[in-house]
Amino acid sequence: MKTVIEKITEQLTEEDKKKIEAAGDILKQGGLVAFPTETVYGLGADALNPEASKKIYAAKGRPSDNPLIVHISNMKALEKITSEIPEKAKKMAKEFWPGPLTMIFPKSEQVPLETTGGLETVAVRMPNHPIALALIDAGGGYIAAPSANTSGKPSPTKAEHVALDMDGKIPMILDGGAVGIGIESTIVDFSTEIPMILRPGYITPEMIQKVIGEVKMDPGLSMDDPTAHPKAPGMKYKHYAPKADLILVNGAQEKVIQKINELVSMAQESGKKTGVIGTDETCGRYQAGIVKSIGTRSEEDTIARHLYGILREFDDLDVDVIYSESFSTPRIGQAIMNRMLKAAGHQVIEV
Ligand code: TXA
Ligand code: MG
Repeated sequence: MKTVIEKITEQLTEEDKKKIEAAGDILKQGGLVAFPTETVYGLGADALNPEASKKIYAAKGRPSDNPLIVHISNMKALEKITSEIPEKAKKMAKEFWPGPLTMIFPKSEQVPLETTGGLETVAVRMPNHPIALALIDAGGGYIAAPSANTSGKPSPTKAEHVALDMDGKIPMILDGGAVGIGIESTIVDFSTEIPMILRPGYITPEMIQKVIGEVKMDPGLSMDDPTAHPKAPGMKYKHYAPKADLILVNGAQEKVIQKINELVSMAQESGKKTGVIGTDETCGRYQAGIVKSIGTRSEEDTIARHLYGILREFDDLDVDVIYSESFSTPRIGQAIMNRMLKAAGHQVIEV
C-alpha cells in the first residue's frame, strides 16, 4: 500500500480542510489515518466499526487485549458511547477537555468489543488539537486511536516517526508538525469509589484533586514492585524501547555526571558505541560518547516534549548503549519517569 503524507497547517486553510475531508472519507470507509494530537501522533480508525479497529492492531502489531482510546470532538458524542457518566467525570471534562486527559466509562452497545479489547468499559478523550478535532468530525465523530508507533517502540511525536513505523501499512498520514506535549494523556478510571489514575501524564494528580477531590494512583504502577499488575492493559507491555540498551543513572547531579562519565569510558573501552542523555544544564560536562540534551530542567515541559524523539535519534545513530540522567522533575516528573523506566526496562543505577 502506498502511504500518502499530507502536510496540514493548524490554521486549517481551505486546502487543509479538503485534505482533512479526504482523510475523513478514508476513515468512514474503514481505513486508517495517522494524525497529530497535542500529546503524540495517533493512528486513527472508525471506533464504531469493528473491522476498522482490527486494522489498527494489525498495523501496530498490538496485542488484541490492549484496548483503544476513542477520540471525540464534543460532549454529545460522549453520551452515545457510554452507558453512565459520573458527576466527577463531567467536572473533569469541563475543566480539562479538550486536553491531555482520557477517562474510562462503562461502554454503550454502540462500541464494539474489538475497540475495547474485549472490555465492557471504554476509554474516551477529546484532544486539544485543531487538526485532530477536524478529522474526528470529518471521520464520523468517533475515532479509535492508539499512539501511531509499532507496538513496543517509542511513541511518535513527529510525522516522520510515524512514517518510519507505518510506511506501506496505512493509506494516509496527516503531517501537522511536531506535537506540543510529547507524552501520552493521563488516564483516569471512575469505576472505583475513589477515581484512580491508570497512566500518569501531563494532567497531574494535584490538578485533578483541585477539581474532584481525592484521586488514587493505580498501585499496579509501582516502580519498585516488578510483580505489580497495572489496571490499564497496555501498561503491562514493554514499551517505548529504543534499539540500544538504555540505562538510567539516578542520584545527586554531580554524582550522576561522574558516574555516567565512568560508564561511558568503560563502555567505549569494550568497543561499544555509546550515547548520553543529559540536559542543557549538564551536557557540557560529559567527556565522551554521543551527548544529546533532552531539554532544560528549568522548563520541564521541554524534557517531556523531546523524550521519545531523542530515543529515536539514538536509534538512527545505531548506538549500542545509552546512559541517561533521570528526570524526576517537580510537576510532571512522575509521568516522564514512568516512560523512561519502561524504555529502560527498569535498569537503574543509583548513585
Ligand atoms: O495521548 C494519548 O492518549 C494518545 C493519543 C493518540 O491520544 N493515545 C494513546 O493510546 O496513548 P495508546 O493506545 O497508546 O494507549 C492507551 C492506553 C493503553 O495503556 C490501554 O491499555 C489503556 O489506554 N486503555 C484503553 N482503554 C482502556 C480501558 N477500557 N480500561 C483500562 N485501560 C484502557
Ligand atoms: Mg501507545
